[in-house]
Amino acid sequence: MAIKNVFVVGAGTMGNGIAQVSAQAGYNVTMSDIKDEFLSRGMATIEKSLDRMIKKGTLQENEKAELMSKIKTTTDLNDARDADLVIEAAPEELELKTSIFKQLDAICKEDAILGTNTSSLPIGAIAAATGRPEKVIGIHFMNPVPVMKGVEVIPGRHTSEDVLEAAKEYVKSIDKEPCEARDYAGFIVSRLVDALMNEAFYCVMDGNKPEEVDKAVKLCLNHPMGPLELCDLAGADVVMHGLETMYAEFGERLMPAPLLKNMVRSGDLGRKTGRGFYDYGEK
Ligand SMILES: NC(=O)c1ccc[n+]([C@@H]2O[C@H](COP(=O)([O-])OP(=O)(O)OC[C@H]3O[C@@H](n4cnc5c(N)ncnc54)[C@H](O)[C@@H]3O)[C@@H](O)[C@H]2O)c1
Repeated sequence: MAIKNVFVVGAGTMGNGIAQVSAQAGYNVTMSDIKDEFLSRGMATIEKSLDRMIKKGTLQENEKAELMSKIKTTTDLNDARDADLVIEAAPEELELKTSIFKQLDAICKEDAILGTNTSSLPIGAIAAATGRPEKVIGIHFMNPVPVMKGVEVIPGRHTSEDVLEAAKEYVKSIDKEPCEARDYAGFIVSRLVDALMNEAFYCVMDGNKPEEVDKAVKLCLNHPMGPLELCDLAGADVVMHGLETMYAEFGERLMPAPLLKNMVRSGDLGRKTGRGFYDYGEK
């Protein structure tokens, strides 16, 4: 089925980026949220992102107006009735997502593809909230959406081959690369990043200095950021929550390191509290 109309649920960090890149690829886009002020904020973020492109010379001023006019906004989920592809980017709560998918199931055309941008929730559980699990798929963008090239595409157990292929085609059409992942906790990217971070915590427990661990990963493995810097940026509590999900799925090999638990208990969460693996001054 040809995708023309893309409907994005949620105008936050990820939703407005998804709306922007879809409009840039020529789709008719509708972005929804629960309040007009969230939609205005999302549109303002898109405008700033397009302004940066104009400054860099990758977009013309007249193209900006055309792109902005391609993105419609709404607070009414019923406007998803004409959508060929829905991408849900609401907060990461299973109950909220299943309730949105139940509503979409009642609203959307029979052949519409229902995508979710979840970073960690099971696609199968979201699909099971609908009467059409074969049409539900994970389309997991990375942050910031306009910049990051890779998108994980995650079929659930009942997702049809046609829907998987159509989702991959959509990702390619917005000038990104689909990476097909299986529906297990953390898919590919979060699972590997969590494993790397956890082993880095053990390196520190074994007496390695945090700055040496990060330097080694950056200079010897060519990562743009070290795993401990990344933990401080994301927040040790957020990283621990992710690892606990991995532990529940995969057992001991992804059990949060004792050092991480100790830091979370002591309130050394990283940048947001002023101290984590590094000192950021008083907060
Ligand atoms: N932020 C990231 O780095 C990142 C990266 C990859 C994936 N994700 C995933 O993307 C999803 C969205 O994350 P985010 O960071 O954009 O969140 P966010 O909080 O920035 O935005 C979520 C938006 O959804 C809106 N919303 C809430 N309930 C809604 C409803 N019923 N209908 C429509 N809109 C509703 C909120 O008002 C908010 O504007 C989550 O599942 C998250 O795990 C986030």
